[in-house]
Amino acid sequence: MKIVVLASGGGSNLGALIAAIDAGACAATIALVVSDKPSAPALARAEARGITTAVVSPSSFVDRSAWDLALSKRVAEAQPSLVVLAGFMRIVGPATLAAFAGRIINVHPALLPSFPGKDGPAQAIAARVRISGCTVHVVDEGIDTGPILAQAAVPVLPEDDVPSLHARIQRVEHQLLPRVVDAIGKGQILLGARPTLSASLFDEGASLLSPSRAGQAS
Ligand code: GRF
Repeated sequence: MKIVVLASGGGSNLGALIAAIDAGACAATIALVVSDKPSAPALARAEARGITTAVVSPSSFVDRSAWDLALSKRVAEAQPSLVVLAGFMRIVGPATLAAFAGRIINVHPALLPSFPGKDGPAQAIAARVRISGCTVHVVDEGIDTGPILAQAAVPVLPEDDVPSLHARIQRVEHQLLPRVVDAIGKGQILLGARPTLSASLFDEGASLLSPSRAGQAS
């Protein structure tokens, strides 16, 4: 399955996808990595692995819809079956959503529907929840509102601050995102108007949802 990854930041999730693909644990090929930021370390990660990269920066376009159209066209050139938002810090617009309807997924650092939008780990700490985690979901026109495909939980410890909690959440993101991409590639998750998951994934999910296991370093 050919995928395109969109990333704005450090690209640790991109790195986890690359590692899983190289280990034969993720049935996908990354055709292209696109960033909205020319300085995103995610681009360097991709280039180090020989993956084609592109920058589609909003500052190069007259308005948001022109940027969105250019993004959708650049991604479409790679002809992906799936678009993966891995730390992409912009809301994709209607042109991109329409071009890849139901085939864009995102990893979010909170257990949705709690704490959507920015700063999921900070919101979790402010709310004094005892369990947080990550969610992989299909992207729709809302902010982190699309159908949930998979989640992994981690404990929120009394001594946690935002960086320590985010780091713990990222460890499970790095396991869950490649697993979900693999499951989509193998047809264990069927995307569409109502995504469906094969029953075996629910059994697997039960172990991912254990805080003690999820809190371990990967
Ligand atoms: C991740 O925590 C992801 O959940 C959020 O942005 C962060 C990106 O991290 N959407 P990285 O760039 O993959 O290291």
